[in-house]
Amino acid sequence: MPTLIGVPRETARGERRVALVPEVVGRLVMLGFGVVVEGGAGMGAFHGDDAYRAAGARVGERAEALGADVVACVGPPDDPQHLRAEAALVGMLRPLDDAERMRRLARTGVMAIALEMVPRISRAQKMDALSAMATVAGYRAVLLAAEALPRFFPLLTTAAGTVRPARVLVLGAGVAGLQAIATARRLGAQVSAYDVRAAAAEEARSLGARFVELALDTAGTEGAGGYAAALDEDRQRRQVELLGEHVAASDVVVCTALVPGRRAPLLVSGEAVRAMAPGSVVVDLAAPNGGNCALTQPGAWVQAGGARVLGPLNLPAEMPMHASALYARTLAALVTEFTREGRFDPDPADEIFRAACITRGGEIVHERVRALP
Ligand code: NAI
Repeated sequence: MPTLIGVPRETARGERRVALVPEVVGRLVMLGFGVVVEGGAGMGAFHGDDAYRAAGARVGERAEALGADVVACVGPPDDPQHLRAEAALVGMLRPLDDAERMRRLARTGVMAIALEMVPRISRAQKMDALSAMATVAGYRAVLLAAEALPRFFPLLTTAAGTVRPARVLVLGAGVAGLQAIATARRLGAQVSAYDVRAAAAEEARSLGARFVELALDTAGTEGAGGYAAALDEDRQRRQVELLGEHVAASDVVVCTALVPGRRAPLLVSGEAVRAMAPGSVVVDLAAPNGGNCALTQPGAWVQAGGARVLGPLNLPAEMPMHASALYARTLAALVTEFTREGRFDPDPADEIFRAACITRGGEIVHERVRALP
């Protein structure tokens, strides 16, 4: 029997992505996998059941998709009790956000693999779902800001006069931030960027942003795996102060700064937002992790003086077609990496597997997740 991959419909509110798109299903079927898709699973991403059938999948009930050997999901399913104990669940399971959910998952006996825990080693690059989704989020954040901003992004010279370009400040120049810089530049804005990691400066400049240098000691801020480490309290406070004038001088601030496994660093004070020109917009991509802006309310728009602070929670879901396509490729890369002689059978000693496997044999096997309260 070939390994059967199940694709249930996503259950989270507002989620429009699907874990596997027909194109990727077609490739998996060619490799010898069977695929069963819950009816309507791809609708939010504009992939109808017929497209999945044409790609070689069977379209069935939810129970069939959840009862497969490998269940492919975007977010963790609401009904894990239907998973089989000997099955694997692969998706962005947010293992560090919700320990209770991980304990529930463990009780099913399933082997749960969290894509966001895949380490940043070169063999795992093709499985880097986080970067793929950050690319989508960075792009969408700028479009959201451009929509909300009551003025043009580009410099315009017209018979009715000249319009100066919008000033966009991007905080955090990682994957999402760099995409935000590139997108804002394409729309013609004047872009500046800031990050604690020195390596980010060159990347930001190469995309046409001015890099903001702060009089701040950044020793020790380069963490493992290309990520940033947290600043101590004093330096964090100083950073907020120093950034204030740059925030106040911007029409748009896109916040993308994160430190893995911690609350997002606070970079923008309420005072700085209130000093922005009326109509200005802050888009805080760190909203799900507590926000980079003191005024951010997850999932809401907040008015602060003349400015607005937007805290979107799931921008990739707002561009479901490409977000799903990129996501599906990373997920399929992981599944095929761990399939030997037609069976999904990860080597327990494998570095990627050990970093990403959260539950197995009825227990939480991931040390960091197990240590959560
Ligand atoms: P992330 O999403 O964890 O953080 C976003 C950005 O926020 C990072 O650039 C970080 O330096 C910055 N940041 C954190 N604290 C800050 C603070 N207090 N002030 C200002 N900025 C702050 O990181 P992301 O985007 O996932 O990756 C960061 C870097 O890792 C990338 O730019 C890239 O160089 C590297 N990377 C390596 C990969 C690989 O080797 N496979 C894959 C993806 C990224």
